[in-house]
Amino acid sequence: MTVVAVDASYTFPIVSDVVVIALGQITDVLFTADQPPASYYMAAHPYASTAGVPFDNTTTTGIIIYEDATLSTPQMPVLPAFNDTPTAHKFSSNLTGLVNGPHWTPVPLEMDEHMFVTVGLGLVACGGTANATCASPLGQRLGVSMNNASFQFPTKSSMLQAFFNNVDGIYTTDFPNQPPLVFD
Ligand SMILES: *[C@@H]1O[C@H](CO)[C@@H](O)[C@H](O)[C@H]1NC(C)=O
Ligand SMILES: *[C@@H]1O[C@H](CO)[C@@H](O)[C@H](O)[C@H]1NC(C)=O
Ligand SMILES: *[C@@H]1O[C@H](CO)[C@@H](O)[C@H](O)[C@H]1NC(C)=O
Repeated sequence: MTVVAVDASYTFPIVSDVVVIALGQITDVLFTADQPPASYYMAAHPYASTAGVPFDNTTTTGIIIYEDATLSTPQMPVLPAFNDTPTAHKFSSNLTGLVNGPHWTPVPLEMDEHMFVTVGLGLVACGGTANATCASPLGQRLGVSMNNASFQFPTKSSMLQAFFNNVDGIYTTDFPNQPPLVFD
């Protein structure tokens, strides 16, 4: 496979046997059919690196059948282990934009803001009693934060609309430049 774009942005082409993809993400891949004519599974399963956190460990498959193949049981590829961080990191860290490609914009080299952003996941209170958005009987749910600030959905307009139309009051500009505590 040759990865040529991610989320509608051209990438430097990457030749790879595996593609690492996140929720809601789109990857454009050119597929080279250069194997002996046969049928093959293409398969996907989760990458889950955190020990002790349960996840759906099932594998989903599609079948690729070469035109001249005699019908037979598809061959199953050997998939990376669920926690194969080196493979995931090798793929993700290898992705770069296609310099001088269509819609490429040079990254600004002057920095006027230095930020250190940490991502946190923890249990937060959600109103005290169990309800539709708070399944836990203890009145807690998982909450994600960046520099200890959690996202709250705006109700009147999307943030992008507010940004483009200069609408006040939808988002604030005081996102912290660093986490409130020394982060280890
Ligand atoms: C998936 O998880 C179940 C339950 O934890 C376990 O019994 C099974 O061996 C796992 N399957 C694979 C392919 O890891
Ligand atoms: C990605 O991998 C290719 C092939 O190994 C290499 O030539 C290229 O420099 C890598 N790119 C990055 C950004 O690591
Ligand atoms: C993180 O945010 C919560 C909720 O706003 C607040 O109660 C807590 O004090 C903050 N933690 C720190 C270390 O500032």
